[in-house]
Formats: sequence, C-alpha cells, structure tokens
Amino acid sequence: MSVVKIRDNIYAVGVQDPEVRIFHGYQVPFGATYNCYLVIDEKITLIDNVKGIFTEQYMKNIEEIVPIEKIDILIQNHIEPDHSGSFPELLRRNPNLEVYCTNGAKNGIKAYYGLDNFNCHVVKNGESLCTGKYTYHFLPAPMVHWPDSMLTYLAEEKILFSNDAFGQHVCTGETYDDEMSRDRLMERVIDYYGNIVLPFGAQVQKLLAQAQALEIEMICPSHGVILRSYISDVVQGYERWSKNECDQDKVVIVYDSMWGSTQEMADCIKEEFEAQGKTVHMHSLAKEHYSQVMGDLVEAKHIFVGASTLNNNMMPTVAAFMTYMKGLKPKNRIGMAFGSYGWSGEATGQVNDIFESLGWETLPVRKQAYRG
Ligand code: FEO
Repeated sequence: MSVVKIRDNIYAVGVQDPEVRIFHGYQVPFGATYNCYLVIDEKITLIDNVKGIFTEQYMKNIEEIVPIEKIDILIQNHIEPDHSGSFPELLRRNPNLEVYCTNGAKNGIKAYYGLDNFNCHVVKNGESLCTGKYTYHFLPAPMVHWPDSMLTYLAEEKILFSNDAFGQHVCTGETYDDEMSRDRLMERVIDYYGNIVLPFGAQVQKLLAQAQALEIEMICPSHGVILRSYISDVVQGYERWSKNECDQDKVVIVYDSMWGSTQEMADCIKEEFEAQGKTVHMHSLAKEHYSQVMGDLVEAKHIFVGASTLNNNMMPTVAAFMTYMKGLKPKNRIGMAFGSYGWSGEATGQVNDIFESLGWETLPVRKQAYRG
C-alpha cells in the first residue's frame, strides 16, 4: 500500500516493507507494511507514523495529498518504533502539530527521542475530538499489545483505526481483505495473533467488549490489509483465541533431532494421534523458524515438544522455541515432552518444567536412548 484513497477525504499513506523477514524475532515470510492514514477535514489529521528508515517515503506519500506543514493533528496510537520512527522528522517539519496520544505514548516519545517540548494532548478513555465534520473517539487499550496502545474510532465513517490489533504481516500488494481468499487472510491473522497478541487475552476481551458498542464498517490496522468484508470472521477469531479456547482435536508436534531418533518418536506420535482422528501439525525446528509454530499453536489443545539432549541441555533450536513460546504465555494446554538421548537425557525434563511453569496439564514424558 502506498497512497490509496479508501474513502472520500481518507487516504492510506503508509509504506511497504516487502523485504523484511524477521520482525523482532518473528519471521514474516511475506514482508510487512506500516500503515498510516490521512483524513482531510477542517483540521487535517494524520494517524500514526512509520519505521524510521521509511521516513522519507512516508513524507513523500503524505505530500501527494497535502504539504506536511498543513497537517493540524497527529493521532499517535502507539509508539513502538515501527509506528513512531518517523515522528521526530514529522515534528521537525511541522512543530505546531497537535499530538493526541496516551500518557504512556507521551512518556515513550520522551524516552526514545528526547522530545517533550511539543503540543501534546494526553487522551482519556472515552474522550472525543471534533475536527470539523468528523469526530474521533479514543479507545486506550493498554497491553493490546503495549502499555501505551490505543485505537481510534472515526464515528461518521464507521472506521476503527486499530493500530496493531487485527493486523497481519503480509505485503503482497493487496489493500483490502477481500483481495485475498478468506483462508489466506485468516492464516495471516492467526499467525500474527499467535506471535504478537497471544499473551494479552484478558486485555483483548476488554477491547472487544468496548468495540461491540461501535458500528464498524472498516477496520484499518497498522499492519497488513484493511478489513471490510471479513471483519466478523476476524473478530470472532479474536473472541475465541483471547479466551484460550482450544480445539481438543488439534495437535502440534514441534521437535529437533540429532541423529533421527527423536524424529522417529515424533513420527510415531503423529501416527498415534492421527489414528485417534486428530489433526496433527508437525514442525521441524531444523527446517522452520520457531515463530512459524505459533499460528498452529493458537488453536491446538495438545502441544508435544521433542528434544534430543545435547551437552546436558535441550537442542538450542528447541530452547529458542521454548523461550519464545513461554514469553507468549499460551494457557489451558496439554503438553508432552519427548526425546532421545545418547548418555544423559536431561532435555525432556527441561521441556516438561517449562510446560509446568505455564500451568499446563502434562502427559508423562516419553524418553528413550538413541535407537539406530
Ligand atoms: Fe506494530 Fe507494537 O508495533
């Protein structure tokens, strides 16, 4: 998406990052976008910023519609660097800008960029802003997914500018959700949810309760495509996932193997559970990035992790996955550790300890000496 008119007076002016492949530890094989929106009214309003390296492109995009100096208001929904990197240059070129953001965002701007001498209006939950014919309602949503996060609803157009919520990491040329298949969209949405939003289920539920009161025709996130045809599918997904409602019949098997013996165990477990009629998603960490597991993990009840023991530890690939998954805090799962070893066999116990630290039910560990 470069500049796209999405409604009369409303433009998508963000930038594309098709080459990015790792996004803070999360593999994004289809790139990413940093979406921002420009709304023309009596007071001209810009919503969000972009990653710093794209600042010049962003300024050019905006100036296809209006000179930077003519913007009256910036709504800064979130200040993680992918949405705030261009903020200092925007402010340098337009020092009179009125900035609407949460207190957390104001503090972040000072901490990151050393900027505190600007016209900042800290918003409160339920507060509104009139810019002429348009009214914006601010919906602070702490921990969806950062403390400063906020969404903004444009009432007259029934548009929710959702920032990170409801986003997807995909940069393959589409502007709207219905330019790709529903299945493709949902695959990108759940992958993003599993890697970004998963730890914050309780906060997502609060946000959904607030959003229920809104009439929404379009969700404009800060990443990926704009939602207009599949809003209910995505929102219903968020409702299920935020409650950690898992599918008893879905199994994820994740493993790495030194000499093939742990892989054989993984294959046997797969056959065993498929024979019970369950859908099994296998992930070899020797071939896949650990973050690629998370999309399947969002709905799976059973998570089985296989690790050979290497120098008294789990394989480093498995350790990376377990560290990452532990941080994302999936709840209400059943875990099983399995693995082969040559002479000690600590890995399965280490995996099992992490399952227990997450409060999961565990199945008995399956551990065996190498079988050639
Ligand atoms: Fe897209 Fe929280 O940054």
